This record gives sequence, C-alpha cells and structure tokens, in this order.
Amino acid sequence: MTHFKTEELDSRKGVYVKTFGCQVNEYDTEKMLMLLSEEYKRVLTPEEAEVILINTCSVREKAEHKLHGLLGRLKPLKETNPELVIGVGGCVAQQEGNNIIKRNKLVDFVVGTHNISLVPSLVKNSKIDRTPQVAVDYRDEWEELPDRFDAMPDESYIVKSTFNSSVRALVAIQRGCDKMCTYCVVPGTRGKQVSRDPKEILKEINLKVRMGAREVLLLGQTVNSYGVDLNPRVKFSKLIQEISEIPNVKRIRFISPHPAEVKKDFIDLYKKIPSLCPHIHLPLQSGSDRILGLMNRSYKTSRYLQIVEELKEKCPNIAITTDIIIGFPTETEEDFLETLEVVKKVKYHSVFSFKYSKRPKTSALEFHDDQEIQEEIKQNRLVRLQELVGEHALSHNKSYLNKEIEVLVESTLENIYKGRSQENVHVEFFKDEGQTLDIKMGDIIKVKVLRASPHGLKGTC
Ligand code: SAH
Ligand code: SF4
Ligand code: F3S
Repeated sequence: MTHFKTEELDSRKGVYVKTFGCQVNEYDTEKMLMLLSEEYKRVLTPEEAEVILINTCSVREKAEHKLHGLLGRLKPLKETNPELVIGVGGCVAQQEGNNIIKRNKLVDFVVGTHNISLVPSLVKNSKIDRTPQVAVDYRDEWEELPDRFDAMPDESYIVKSTFNSSVRALVAIQRGCDKMCTYCVVPGTRGKQVSRDPKEILKEINLKVRMGAREVLLLGQTVNSYGVDLNPRVKFSKLIQEISEIPNVKRIRFISPHPAEVKKDFIDLYKKIPSLCPHIHLPLQSGSDRILGLMNRSYKTSRYLQIVEELKEKCPNIAITTDIIIGFPTETEEDFLETLEVVKKVKYHSVFSFKYSKRPKTSALEFHDDQEIQEEIKQNRLVRLQELVGEHALSHNKSYLNKEIEVLVESTLENIYKGRSQENVHVEFFKDEGQTLDIKMGDIIKVKVLRASPHGLKGTC
C-alpha cells in the first residue's frame, strides 16, 4: 500500500467526479475516491482528468437530465483524448443500466449503487479494452469496503484529497428503503432496507474523528427504522448513545427520520444526548391527509404536529426543517392551503420544496393525465410556499441577533470563517480587531450575531 506524504510526491493521475443528488451519493463518491486513491488523486476540472465519474440522481426528472447535459459537454474532451475513461454511477445507473451505454457511446462503464467495490476494476478494464461494461447486480448484504487507513502508521500520512477528512463526517447507517412512497424512485434504485453492522459504523466514525471530523452526519432514508432488520435487533437510540460516547464527537446529526417511525425513545434522545444537535429534518411532504394517503406516507398531519409538540417540549430551541412536494396528482387548492397551515404551525427554519415530478416505475404513474397538476399551478403554489417559508426563516434568524452562538468552523479561507450553528444555520464570521484567537477548522467558536438573512447569519468573534 502506498501512502503519499506531501503534494509534491503525489504523481498520481487525475480523477474528476461530478456528484448529483443527495448526501448518500456524496458518501458513495467519497468511497469511490477512496478505492481509487492509490492510483488517482481528485482533480477539480474534467480537463485535468484521465478518469471521469458521474454519480447520478434520479429523484426528479430534472436531476436525470443533468447526466445527459454533462455527457454532452464532455464529448469534445473524449474526442481529443480517446484514452479518457468515463464511468456513470448512482441511481440513474442502477435504474437504466445498459440503456445508458446504448444511448451514449461516450460511456465506458455503468456502475450501480450496490457495486461500488468494482469501480477500480471497471476503470482498469476500460483502459485495456474499450468494450463498455455494466455492473448493476443487486446485492442482499451491506457492501463493506476495505479500509485503506486501517493500517495507517501515523496521522501525517493521511491523504487529504481522498477519504473524507473534513470537519463533518458523512456515515451511512442504512441502505435502501422499505416504505414505497408512491412518487419515489429510491426503493427501486437502492433496494430494500439493509442496516449496517453497528461495529462498522462505530469503526468508521472513530477513524474519521482521528482524521479531524468533529460532527457526524448519519445517513439513511428512514434512519429511525435503523436496526429492525438486524439480528439481534439494534435500536437507533442505542446507536446514537454509543456514538455520543466516542471522544471528540462534538455534534451528532442524522437525515432523515420518517414521522411514522418516531417512538418515545427517539424523542427522548433530544433531552438525553447533549451532543445531539437541536435540529431535526422531519419530512412532511404534504399537509393534506388525503394527499398523504395517496402518497402512502402512513401518518396523518395530526400525528406529525403531535411529534413536533413533543420535540419542542424536550428541546425548546429545536430547529425543524422539512421536505414538501407541491402538485402531487389531484392536489387541490384546499389541499395546498392545508399544507400552508401546517407550515404556519410548525414555523420551519427551512424547507426543501419540490414540484412533483413523474418518475419511472413508481405507482403514482397510474394517475390519469387529467389528474396531474398543471405546471403553472405548481409554480404558483411553490412561490407562495417559499414566500411563507422565507418569512419564517428570517424571523428565526433575526431572533439570534446580538446573541452569542456556537459555531463549528468548517472553512477558514482568507480570514473569513464559515460554519454552522447547532441548529444547522449557516454562519459567516470574522475576527474583531484585537482578537488574537487562532481559529482552526473543527474548533467551536462563540460568535456574536450582527446580521441575519433568510439564508444565514453573519457575525464576529
Ligand atoms: N427518504 C427521505 C427522502 C428521500 S428523497 C424521506 O422519506 O424523507 C428526498 C426528497 O425528494 C423527498 O423527501 C421528497 O420531498 C422529494 N421527492 C422524492 N420523489 C419526488 C418526486 N417524484 N417529485 C418531487 N419530489 C420528490
Ligand atoms: Fe422515498 Fe418514501 Fe423511502 Fe423516503 S421513505 S426514500 S420518500 S420511499
Ligand atoms: Fe437521488 Fe438516489 Fe439520492 S435518487 S436523492 S441520489 S438516493
């Protein structure tokens, strides 16, 4: 195994990766880079690369189009450098497999979401033989990868540009999803729920903390159903407890819990675990019970609001964020107004709102064309929702004005420090005149808030 001590010694070839989609995809990208890191270093432009990986997302039609747009832009590069290897991974790869190769001759290999360990051999084979390869087989068990840094002799050998060495560690705890929401491709592209062995989760967190991580972001489609498929069963709350005992894990977050899986021990975590951030991303999707039923979300708005109340009781300063889909088939103005009502009651810190998008192999395709919501109506509702959310976000952020908040520093470029508050609000700050504090990434700094916008805070220390 080769380790590279400094950039000067680093004669590895370049790999460029473009990641679309969610943090699960970002995490998979990280794994691909780690697996390739003996021969390839990450480069920031496709022009510098010998290998290009596109990690795709299929959650909405727009996301899927991005793959084809990017391939179009890469065409001239491949024409001038026939040695260039282009691989497509992620959810579109899993869903479309061979069709990607048929549709676009630029692509050398397609790698699905269960076959990441094959990336190095797919790259190697592409260099030898230009016959396109497709690896999209389903795998029942968790695909645990070899740990490149297991035998790491000392910390100075860590290669910054490969395995995640940032302040926030993304750590997958669960793969796939058993929920079958009628609009969603994820169960199709990621398969059934498979929980990861807790020992492997703790090992990865320990490793990433050694490499400088101070915040752990646990990833899964319904994180709070973690462990029900393990034998013996492991509770999500127990996992969080164990993670909180790892020295130097200063903040714990997770995305996303599912409202129908929220139990008492989950809510209690917000009182019991001091390092669990006072923030929850709790997807609502719609505030109309009729639409929730059609989406197969298996909770009602009354239960959702009850969970919000219980969370606020345990953790009065909790920031709540959510996902909402606008214009699901048959959504009426009344349904939409019900969504706005829930938004007014919860007063979210931020909302990811999406126009409903028809996706292949989902059961919502069974709605008739005349049940689909027109584009202008979707757009109008989206704008109204976002205006309301903007007002709430601004009023939350203004409530921090002139107060001192704790910021975990994530970047320190040119003496402008950036990070997040415990509530996950973006904060930018600089040092006051005379401030001699030496600020490094991973430090938690007390910042006085001077300005607030709907998108974040600015202040000094
Ligand atoms: N497992 C997570 C969500 C994963 S997908 C959960 O259950 O909350 C991320 C978000 O994309 C979803 O919460 C939903 O709001 C949105 N989304 C998924 N499919 C969509 C579709 N067909 N059209 C529009 N938005 C969609
Ligand atoms: Fe998709 Fe629903 Fe599963 Fe989330 S819970 S990944 S929205 S099927
Ligand atoms: Fe997209 Fe797949 Fe994530 S569809 S949102 S990349 S799980």
